[in-house]
Amino acid sequence: MFFKSKSGPIKIQWSEDMAVGVPSLDDDHKSFFEMVESIRRIQRFGSVNNWDFDNIKMILSEYVEGHFLREELFLVKGPYNEYVLHKRQHDSFRSKLSKFLTTASSIEENMEEIALLVESWIPNHIQKWDFRYRDWVKAEDVDPRPLGLLLSSRSRL
Ligand SMILES: [Fe+2]
Repeated sequence: MFFKSKSGPIKIQWSEDMAVGVPSLDDDHKSFFEMVESIRRIQRFGSVNNWDFDNIKMILSEYVEGHFLREELFLVKGPYNEYVLHKRQHDSFRSKLSKFLTTASSIEENMEEIALLVESWIPNHIQKWDFRYRDWVKAEDVDPRPLGLLLSSRSRL
């Protein structure tokens, strides 16, 4: 997220204090920040075209579905109710994002809305919700495979 300060915008990036301690999950989280950085770079260096926009939407959708599934697959084995509560947060993001992905506003506006959503939601979600599993999750309980391959595991939920 960018906050305006007297000395200019302050960029929020992934940092060690957001680590959940499982490499595949931390790498997914870093990718969300990198995605926003790509959007910001595109916005800064020229006009947004359909190709950029379609690619960003595709990559973001894949990350959201794949990463949320990676978490849900081990959360379901976690302490009582953790899966249900956490999934509710994921579902709320899924529906916000899908609203933006199908909205009829201009590409520039839509891209900005998506960037703002990711910038504000992801750091907050990591620190409020993902930190809840940080204390009990074991790396061997997390499926580290690439996101696309995880989708075949959806039936385990
Ligand atoms: Fe999560």
